[in-house]
Amino acid sequence: MLKGKNLLAIHDLSADEVEEILSLAADLKTMQRTGVPHRFLEGKTLGMIFEKSSTRTRVSFEVGMFQLGGSALFLSNRDLQLGRGEPIKDTARVLSRYLDGIMIRTYGHERVLELAEYATIPIINGLTDLLHPCQVLTDLLTIREHKGKDLRRLKMAYVGDGNNMANSYLCGAAKVGMSLTVATPPNYKPDENIFGLAQDDAKLTGATLEWMEDPYKAVEGADVIATDTWASMGQEAEHDERKKIFAPYQVNAELLARADRNAIVMHCLPAYRGEEITEEVLEANAPVIFDEAENRLHTQKAIMVLTMGN
Ligand code: CP
Ligand code: NVA
Repeated sequence: MLKGKNLLAIHDLSADEVEEILSLAADLKTMQRTGVPHRFLEGKTLGMIFEKSSTRTRVSFEVGMFQLGGSALFLSNRDLQLGRGEPIKDTARVLSRYLDGIMIRTYGHERVLELAEYATIPIINGLTDLLHPCQVLTDLLTIREHKGKDLRRLKMAYVGDGNNMANSYLCGAAKVGMSLTVATPPNYKPDENIFGLAQDDAKLTGATLEWMEDPYKAVEGADVIATDTWASMGQEAEHDERKKIFAPYQVNAELLARADRNAIVMHCLPAYRGEEITEEVLEANAPVIFDEAENRLHTQKAIMVLTMGN
């Protein structure tokens, strides 16, 4: 279903396509762990454009491509002519002549949309200021592993900044019918347009999506709690101000006491201990959080096989 398509945003995918990704990701995980060869992308090359830093995204895409029998090229904007002002639309048309797919991590979401408009090969969004779809698809897989396959019975709460992760959780929860409450300070709400698109999906799947200011109320009875850095890449100058504004949104033992007693805590990493999450909560949830990191590999392999495979 996804063959030849882009992976730019979860709201572009059908519920069946999300299911296809999650189910193939689980299969690929089993194959990798049991040593079953799965060189489904032999001879294919992925270009990975990074205009921001990365540990997980870079390594998991590169290793994933290697395990699938293909190869990956790390293309930093410090080296590409793109970094010296060559237009995205020219870069897209040139790279389409050499590669079989492009993963891009950048600032403005419109850069990814322009790349996709001019490229003739699948484009995968590896994070923009607006969305982080590969991470949230990964998180859905991880929630299934820890909480069971039926996500519709779960209540999730996202606490912190209404950033790319919050926006993508709204899209992901809406698509799979999971209830999600997002708690942020009033001036740091998720993107209004994305919230609207997610609400359209939620009407079809029965998901309840809510925003509120109070993090304590948001986590009441939650099965899954997620948070993310208070200052995303590009917001470094606002870090000190944000630390003050977001202080009541820290995921700590006191907040967790309001959630379901078996609640799991997720974090896409990198984490800033003592800010959005305490050392104690992070370490107590390390099995989930590092599964989440590992699952980037399996989920992205599934995305690459489905979009770039024959
Ligand atoms: N979670 C995530 O995308 O991590 P990186 O920034 O290290 O890629
Ligand atoms: N919101 C964070 C996520 C990092 C993976 C950022 O954009 O920096």
